[in-house]
Amino acid sequence: MNFETILVETRGRVGLIRLNRPKALNALNQTLLTELMAALETFDADNQIGAMVIMGNEKVFAAGADIKEMATASAVDMLNSEFIPTFDRIRVIKKPIIAAVSGWALGGGSELALSCDMIIAAENAKFGQPEINIGVIPGAGGTQRLAKAVGKALAMEMVLNNRTLNAEEALHYGIVNRVVPTERCFDEALQLATEIAARAPLAVQLGKEAINQAFETSLSEGLANERRAFTLLFASHDQKEGMAAFIEKRPPEWKGQ
Ligand code: CAA
Repeated sequence: MNFETILVETRGRVGLIRLNRPKALNALNQTLLTELMAALETFDADNQIGAMVIMGNEKVFAAGADIKEMATASAVDMLNSEFIPTFDRIRVIKKPIIAAVSGWALGGGSELALSCDMIIAAENAKFGQPEINIGVIPGAGGTQRLAKAVGKALAMEMVLNNRTLNAEEALHYGIVNRVVPTERCFDEALQLATEIAARAPLAVQLGKEAINQAFETSLSEGLANERRAFTLLFASHDQKEGMAAFIEKRPPEWKGQ
């Protein structure tokens, strides 16, 4: 895969995507978002890939939507733009996505990280929604995901007064999985992705789907969905293999079937 604004490679069963507009602090323009989605969707459809990592560079994950691209847009331009709908496509990726966040994750960059399933944060990571500084509000899920993740009071402060969270605060509020030395951020994200990518693929997929439903449904609907997914896995080769391997005291061989 050859792209203009991202670098893509595979490491074993992990698909790695590096945001690569360093001069613009990885600002998310339409080209970058389109390329990012193409890479994610290609990896999602590839049986050789079990998980993905999205990363920036040491100074910045992404400094938000590309302000220069949006500055003169009309409301109708924004309504017809593919920018926000592109974010929506991340929600239907089936395989786990881990964000490795070093430095700034601002605006759409923070929203991109929050759209991922897990976040490994470098000690220098900073999360914020500075849209208020440029006369708008988050448009790619920030008000919703932050309110659910950090609660109403802090989400209000972040969105209405540009309160940023450092890595330890992000950990405290449950936005990130862990904080690691900055130089270890990518390796830790890759390690986590590699471990998950080696697990039973269907169980990983349905586990992700069931957890995400917890944010969208009532408890009884979520529990019913979980029960259906759990039951469905008993139709898989990997359930038979996993349980037989446990009883026979040997490592399982997953087929994703
Ligand atoms: N869009 C376009 N260009 C950006 C950008 C952005 N979001 N963020 C930084 N850049 C560009 C700067 O314009 C600058 O380019 P030039 O050299 O051509 O002038 C270059 O990147 C370096 O930026 P700075 O000189 O500002 O770097 P800094 O280290 O002094 O500051 C920063 C870093 C604090 C991240 C600062 O760049 C900044 O505040 N950026 C804007 C952050 C922001 O407001 N993000 C929200 C965007 S709106 C949004 O995301 C809406 C949504 O919900 C989808």
